[in-house]
Amino acid sequence: MPLGSRRLLAKLPVKIVTVIGARPQFIKASVVSQAVRQQSGLREVLVHTGQHYDEQMSQVFFDELAIPRPDHHLEIGSGSHGDQTGRMLAAIERVLLDERPDWVLVYGDTNSTLAGALAAVKLHIPVAHVEAGLRSFNRRMPEEINRVLTDHAADFLLTPTPSASELLQREGIEPRRIQCVGDVMYDVARSFGERARNTSRVLATVGVSPGEYVLATVHRPDNTDQPQRLHAILAALQQLAETLPVVLPVHPRTRNAIAALGFSARAPLHLIEPVGYLDMAMLEQHARLIATDSGGVQKEAYFYGVPCLTLRGETEWVELVEHGGQRLHVPNDEAELLAALRQQLNQPRHEPRTTLFGDGHAAEKIIAALGQFES
Ligand code: UD1
Ligand code: UDP
Repeated sequence: MPLGSRRLLAKLPVKIVTVIGARPQFIKASVVSQAVRQQSGLREVLVHTGQHYDEQMSQVFFDELAIPRPDHHLEIGSGSHGDQTGRMLAAIERVLLDERPDWVLVYGDTNSTLAGALAAVKLHIPVAHVEAGLRSFNRRMPEEINRVLTDHAADFLLTPTPSASELLQREGIEPRRIQCVGDVMYDVARSFGERARNTSRVLATVGVSPGEYVLATVHRPDNTDQPQRLHAILAALQQLAETLPVVLPVHPRTRNAIAALGFSARAPLHLIEPVGYLDMAMLEQHARLIATDSGGVQKEAYFYGVPCLTLRGETEWVELVEHGGQRLHVPNDEAELLAALRQQLNQPRHEPRTTLFGDGHAAEKIIAALGQFES
């Protein structure tokens, strides 16, 4: 069969190569991978680029979310953007030439996403982009470049929200190539949120009580790579911890930046290793407030009805600010950040509008959409 031939699910079997490599992609792909396994005639070949490789950034998600062992582990590791993306591109191309899939599936906006999409389109293999159509309109973010390029390279754009679909149409993408399927992260939260409540012991391990702590995460280069800003964030969280304990699972990028800054946290500001999905879902569900610059954590705060302060000047998830009670704050100044955190602490928990991010069946809709797509 020639590379790039498109078949409908009616003409089975169909082989999908899924390219993932970073923490949020393992989480997003877990539910789609499960839906593929439940569909006879579909086969998934899983490619792990190795962008994230620490046990707590990678393997823990495969174990907890029952993701199959990758068929190809490219072990690319860390590097500058060009170096990392370039090595991924070459390695993914070799896999695609060997596997000759019907579709390549990529997720989100990391360097692994862009490399997967680019390798595939150059070989004329159809690419589907899950979580398409998000924009921050901030070109300083590496993710923004990755999203724009991936969306415009891909054949089929699977969006999480109607606003993402509208945005793609405004960028000139043909409507037939866009389909709103809902947010796969909502599927994951629905599948594993309760299991987290039943199994996770993380609150006792860290030493915090339900509803009596703030959960924070920070990993955006804009926040970690400017020492003054990172210091403002840590100092404000340290001060807040005098009122309410703060738990901060530290991303490796942030761990390196904190070490370079020479900041040492004092309890009850708890800097802990990155946690697995179940412990994170537990920490989120019981937090009084979440302060984060993570795309995924912002939304999970909303799914669980927890007030959130987003530590950025803009968000791709505009619905969260319009309907979800979230506030944006650029954390430039310690005193201003502390005031914003204290103000947001007074927000009550909310009842999420369940339809905002789909119906929790995005994964099945992705499979069905691939089956119906006509080039
Ligand atoms: C990447 C994504 C970002 C996503 C985030 C999820 C890009 C450009 N960025 O950012 O969109 O939100 O993943 O977490 O793709 N490191 C380790 N161990 C690891 C992984 C990384 O020590 O397992 C360290 C390395 O020093 C590395 C640094 O963290 O240089 C940054 O990792 P990288 O994957 O380049 O970017 P992230 O900040 O993780
Ligand atoms: N997450 C996790 N452990 C942590 C921090 C985050 O399991 O210590 C999960 C979180 O619940 C969400 C996802 O990782 O599902 C978000 O990933 P991240 O913040 O790394 O990236 P982003 O979403 O900003 O791209």
